[in-house]
Amino acid sequence: MTTPVIAIDGTAASGKGTLARRLARQLGYAYLDTGLLYRATALMTLTLFPEQNDISEEMALKAVNAITAETMENPTLRDEETTQRASKVAAIPAVRTALIEQQRKFAKTPPDGADGAILDGRDIGTVICPDADHKIYVDADVKVRAERRVKELLERGDEAIHACVLQDMRERDARDSSRSVAPLVAADDAFIMDTTRMDADVAFATALEFISKRNESKA
Ligand code: DC
Repeated sequence: MTTPVIAIDGTAASGKGTLARRLARQLGYAYLDTGLLYRATALMTLTLFPEQNDISEEMALKAVNAITAETMENPTLRDEETTQRASKVAAIPAVRTALIEQQRKFAKTPPDGADGAILDGRDIGTVICPDADHKIYVDADVKVRAERRVKELLERGDEAIHACVLQDMRERDARDSSRSVAPLVAADDAFIMDTTRMDADVAFATALEFISKRNESKA
């Protein structure tokens, strides 16, 4: 029997991370935030090549190879500079190829003997796990997503101006959606969720119902 896999893709601050974490807890599945892999790559480019704005494929691959367990815990992974850089390195095809294997391995053999795996990102249902048992695509109005990000930043004690966050988010959406390799796009067979008017509880209940109904219809 193969391990059940749930693929959750979507735009930044759409609520996909919160949703994925809650579903993983509820179902006893292991959870992988694949955005962290691109953020870690970005952080290593900033560490190894601090003066460089244009990151070549060679530099980016050096950064991928320099990632350690410590990098994955670094609080600056969520900083604005790392966030913007992550979306840039994520557009480099060789970086995506270098990160495929570990994501697929996580899906196939989730850690700690978990009963299944949930991965969230931009290309999970389309590229990493095209055969996932369930695919969910999460989106929300960009202004609402920017508000959520501002709230998150303020709660962390960072400065945040709505207009700047909104502008950065629009740029990132455009970059993530228009790149030539594995662009952000809903898989044809994904369940689309618009969380603009949903709080986290409603989003969780909606996704859980979708998964349960599909499981019943497959049984
Ligand atoms: O999900 P996130 O905001 O932490 O992701 C950070 C960046 O990484 C995002 O701008 C696009 C990229 N990313 C990607 O290209 N593919 C993924 N599976 C996950 C993230």
